[in-house]
Amino acid sequence: MQNFTSYNPTKVHFGKGVVEKLGVEAAQYGRKALIVIGRGSVKTNGVLDAVFKQLETAGVTHVLFEGIKSNPIYQDVDSAIAVAEAFGAEMVVAVGGGSVVDSAKAVAIGVGAGHSVWDFYTRTAPAPTKGLPLLCVLTLAATGTEQNRNSVIQNDADGRKMGYSCDAMYPKVSFLDPEYTVSVPANYTAYGISDLISHVLEQYVEPTDSPLSNYIATDIIKLAFEHGRKLMADLTDYDARANILWLSTMALNGTLSAGKRGGDWGVHGLEHSLSVLYDIPHGAGLSIIYPSWIRAFRTELEPKLDFMAKRVLSPTATGDDFLNELEGFYKEINSPTRLSEANIPVADKAKILENFALNKVVGGFYKMDEAKRAEILDLAWGE
Ligand code: NZQ
Ligand code: ZN
Repeated sequence: MQNFTSYNPTKVHFGKGVVEKLGVEAAQYGRKALIVIGRGSVKTNGVLDAVFKQLETAGVTHVLFEGIKSNPIYQDVDSAIAVAEAFGAEMVVAVGGGSVVDSAKAVAIGVGAGHSVWDFYTRTAPAPTKGLPLLCVLTLAATGTEQNRNSVIQNDADGRKMGYSCDAMYPKVSFLDPEYTVSVPANYTAYGISDLISHVLEQYVEPTDSPLSNYIATDIIKLAFEHGRKLMADLTDYDARANILWLSTMALNGTLSAGKRGGDWGVHGLEHSLSVLYDIPHGAGLSIIYPSWIRAFRTELEPKLDFMAKRVLSPTATGDDFLNELEGFYKEINSPTRLSEANIPVADKAKILENFALNKVVGGFYKMDEAKRAEILDLAWGE
């Protein structure tokens, strides 16, 4: 087991109606809030109205920044920062999925910085030591951003999608109401399940021995299969929504990295290139890459896959059984498993490989050179 520091300052309110605590929580941080939202879902499902009501009752005035796109871009964040500065915002309230929350995290550290937020992501500006307090009303189960210090945004102009992590980006409070996720359509529900599974795998496959993390990882995968199937059969199933939501938070809030050395994250690197080049949903890119990445590292992964198979499937199951189950599960929930399903043509291979190189996609423990990355792409185009 490696040395580690366990620290997660985000308070989580979980369950039906928890937004009713938003006003009291927000009032602790000031009287002026910038609210950040995406492209309208929170207006149609009533979540934004509930947030307005809470802030108004608590005497917190607000200004709205809307239009954050899925796979968010730094230019929108810079625009939101300008609005926050002009308004004198004392806090940021994110209402939406991972793209909105990640953008709001970037706004929180960018206000008052005096430069584009992208400079943090490219590491050309010094790390921030503080940021505006962030409150997060999550509406989509997937990324785990609601209880972690990470944010991922992209620069479409130069083809880079980059993650950034700092303590100032931990939300102060997150409100996780499973009912707020009921309006997520089937496709994004499936991509969210794919994303949460991938977060577990990225950390689990690391060879470092950390038994408790390994056991929790296998249990999260098992429950994600079980509740994922229930949820895809009935998108209004509250219990399945609640389980998937909490599983996705737990998959990336530090629990699984205890005693480890940070995870591999090679598949995420490969996927981020697909998102920036083709604007495909993150979870869809992950379900395309994961089976091929596992096939490419099948020998090295044997002990990890074997343990996972025995814990998730049966005492006699093998690593291949787990791979088949994983790929079969993606197909069952209609998350793609081949590049062709996302209309990414073989003719683009050189362009994609170039983007992998630009984004320095190598993986933490299972190292990928150009030939390995090409092999994974070929597998992902295969039948
Ligand atoms: O824009 P709106 O109208 O809100 O619609 C969104 C968007 O079209 C919609 N949606 C969200 N909640 C909804 C809803 N529709 C109906 N009802 C609701 N309740 O869903 C679509 C996708 O939203 P998005 O926020 O993009 O999805 P997700 O939560 O999967 O976030 C993806 C982003 O997070 C990054 C990804 O790379 C991607 O950019 N990640 C962030 C991580 C982190 N911060 O720790 C880790 C992840 O690995 C990931 O990289
Ligand atoms: Zn992810």
